[in-house]
Amino acid sequence: MKNYIQIKQKINSYNKSILVSSDKSISIRSILLASQAIGVSKIFNLLESEDVINTLRSIKKLGIKYKKYNKFYKIYGLGLKGFNTKNKLVLNAGNSGTFARLILGLLINSDNYIKIVGDRSLSKRDFSRVVQPLKKFGPIISSNNGRLPVNIKGTEFLRPINYVEERGSAQCKSTIMLAALKTPGMTKIKAKKSRNHSEIFFKNLNIPIKVKSEGKYDKIDVFGESNYKGFNYRIPGDISSCSFFLVLTILNKNSKLLIRNVNVNDTRTGVIKILNKMNAKIKFKNVRNYKGELIADIDVKSCKDLKAINCPEYLNSSAIDEFVTIFLVAAKSKGISTFKNLGELEKKESPRLTVAVNFLKKIGIKVLRKKNNLKIYGKPDLELKGNYIIKNFRKDHRIFMMSCVAALTLGGNWKLFDKDSINSSFPDFFNVLKKLGVNIS
Ligand code: S3P
Repeated sequence: MKNYIQIKQKINSYNKSILVSSDKSISIRSILLASQAIGVSKIFNLLESEDVINTLRSIKKLGIKYKKYNKFYKIYGLGLKGFNTKNKLVLNAGNSGTFARLILGLLINSDNYIKIVGDRSLSKRDFSRVVQPLKKFGPIISSNNGRLPVNIKGTEFLRPINYVEERGSAQCKSTIMLAALKTPGMTKIKAKKSRNHSEIFFKNLNIPIKVKSEGKYDKIDVFGESNYKGFNYRIPGDISSCSFFLVLTILNKNSKLLIRNVNVNDTRTGVIKILNKMNAKIKFKNVRNYKGELIADIDVKSCKDLKAINCPEYLNSSAIDEFVTIFLVAAKSKGISTFKNLGELEKKESPRLTVAVNFLKKIGIKVLRKKNNLKIYGKPDLELKGNYIIKNFRKDHRIFMMSCVAALTLGGNWKLFDKDSINSSFPDFFNVLKKLGVNIS
């Protein structure tokens, strides 16, 4: 089977309403927390992507049963000491950094050695950021020079830690929170602000947690070893998946789109704040609160007078997965856009800053990069005519989908490889495009 798509035509105008895939971060957290509950949890709208399926398969290997029904998954949690860990068990995280890191937090009390492996992309990513702090709780952990495979053997004699997180990484913060859940006493975390789905989930489940905002940081105290019961949860749409359709609509002519049922937690909506500063008029409708998470329908339309942005650094973490798509908007804006301190982008499924800069240069955009700062020289009249082949991007799902948006709005003759990469986060991507009149071949 060929693993590329061709796009030879721009997308037509549309006025539609769509749904996007369920949130990946919340899907993975819901499974992991359900696995630690006492009794059955029911998860509705679980994202059925490879990252989430790898999470389900792994908890099954750890002795947690689950069953798929028509509208929900049932997960049969066995409590904080419920994993049944056979020695030398291997868990394959595939492409999922979130699962591979968070599960290590839950394995700090495992009886046996467990090995975490992943695909080529994940095997190049940094795990020392979670291995180092986790060691302080007491388990034995070794890695391949800070990379996968990571081997972990837990201990009964866990001790709570003080942890400072400086990257603005929700994965690091959540890994420590999950370890704290298993540890007697109070774990104290000071973390640069980042997505707070884990904190919201903990509060929901009445796990003893205190969160206090202090400038750029949150101080989070978790009091461990507190059991909780199975729960019901309905996963909302993923703003990261939604962002491709926001940008598609902004860059397309005479189009309007309503994207229903999207998580608009303030720690995730950097993309909307940034795009609105660039003149897009994105609005939230029907905003509601579901178990502490804000959900809304998002209204977006074409924008003819996009302007450059001097992107404030405080928005970096709340738009971390959306920057590659935001750069496309900068490419079509009037003026020079600047982005600062995006080093964390290099640590994703691909070195995204490098890959995105190469992409922009390939489509004729001047970009200046100094360390992890960018200047993008916008060309509002950018129209492409040549042939474009996108191959070497380490199968990064977000680079692939951003390239599709570029092809559909800028013109040119495109061949985009590794179409299967969408299965990490947004397996329905082509089906949603189909609703907007695009038939991907
Ligand atoms: C995630 C956090 C972010 C994000 C990733 C999902 C999470 O990673 O890029 O896609 O679910 O916690 P970092 O925490 O490494 O920034």
